[in-house]
Amino acid sequence: MTDDPKETSQRKIEHVMIAKRDDIDLSTDRSWFEHVRLLHNPLPDVSFEDVDLSWRFLGYDLRAPLLIEGMTGGHEATLPINKALAEAAQAERVAIGVGSQRAALRDESLAETYSIVRETATEVPVIANLGISHIIGDEGPDNAKRAVDMIDADALAIHLNPLQEVIQPEGSIDFSGSLVAIRDVVRELDVPVIVKEVGSGIPRETAHVLRRMGVGIVDVAGQGGTSWSLIEGERSPEGSPRRIASKRFADWGIPTPLAIMEVSGLGLEVIGSGGVRSGLDAAKCLALGAHMAGAARPFFVRAVEEGSDGVRDELNKFIFEMKLAAFLTGSLTVNQLRLTRKYLLTGPLKTLADERHIFI
Ligand SMILES: Cc1cc2nc3c(=O)[nH]c(=O)nc-3n(C[C@H](O)[C@H](O)[C@H](O)COP(=O)(O)O)c2cc1C
Repeated sequence: MTDDPKETSQRKIEHVMIAKRDDIDLSTDRSWFEHVRLLHNPLPDVSFEDVDLSWRFLGYDLRAPLLIEGMTGGHEATLPINKALAEAAQAERVAIGVGSQRAALRDESLAETYSIVRETATEVPVIANLGISHIIGDEGPDNAKRAVDMIDADALAIHLNPLQEVIQPEGSIDFSGSLVAIRDVVRELDVPVIVKEVGSGIPRETAHVLRRMGVGIVDVAGQGGTSWSLIEGERSPEGSPRRIASKRFADWGIPTPLAIMEVSGLGLEVIGSGGVRSGLDAAKCLALGAHMAGAARPFFVRAVEEGSDGVRDELNKFIFEMKLAAFLTGSLTVNQLRLTRKYLLTGPLKTLADERHIFI
């Protein structure tokens, strides 16, 4: 593992360049949302205008249960991207996360690339972000506090990314001490801790353990969208073991709809993300039991190409479709959509849910 701040910052910008490419996004042909059908109600008996998606998260009233997932910061070129995302989150009243703050823990001059989010998005939840490897060890709780303070965050997301770290040429591959580290950070911080994956999902067994460690919120970030195996693989030479493995493990993990069902009903607040590419996908997350839906790459691409107007447009498309799906299932509120099992599973998703004894 290397902790050279310049290298971390350089890696961030390489990630940004590769993440723009559609061929690292599995949702084009391997999203699992097509195996979820919402149950049509042809007699909604309510007005479309009366559907209310408003939702409370981390103490804020949101227009809809939506999160712009943590992505970037840590290089001067990422500042305008974070600013555009934050302007849109603030204008449309949805939650927002920042990318891993590791770079700024080592080089304080980079802090502004993250704090711009809090400065811009003052009335919505803002979520700090660190990888599990940055909270392991004696400095862990201090790193966590510094990340939260840096952006005056409402929560800290700790990302679990074992596949990414091993495929990453300079990755941190020793995850020993993860559990104690999470427990200690939960104890030391005075804001909630969210544990998230980055595209391989969280199963029920892990969610149980996290709950015992005091974690209250999980973001499944399941398989079906951005593949960090593919992104990191692009950074190794053609024909190298890492590059070859990155393609074979591209869709490793738990598909997002299954992951949501796995971790729902355990007393945790659940964020459904990973391959969520539309408001209909987001509505499916909620119907499967998630409290919030999140997406990263769709907002990232719009921010890079068009700035905050593009992100606002994308958010409005999401929210319109979420409202339409709620209406067409006869749901007036988010909870009516969440709690009434208005979905059918098909194909391999149904098989996996059965195998995992998920009672649907
Ligand atoms: C450009 C980019 C950068 C990301 N950086 C981070 C990060 O620093 N920390 C993190 O927890 N997740 C990061 N992610 C992962 C996302 O938060 C999300 O879990 C994952 O991309 C799956 O969502 P998606 O399929 O909607 O993109 C990043 C994603 C993208 C697209």
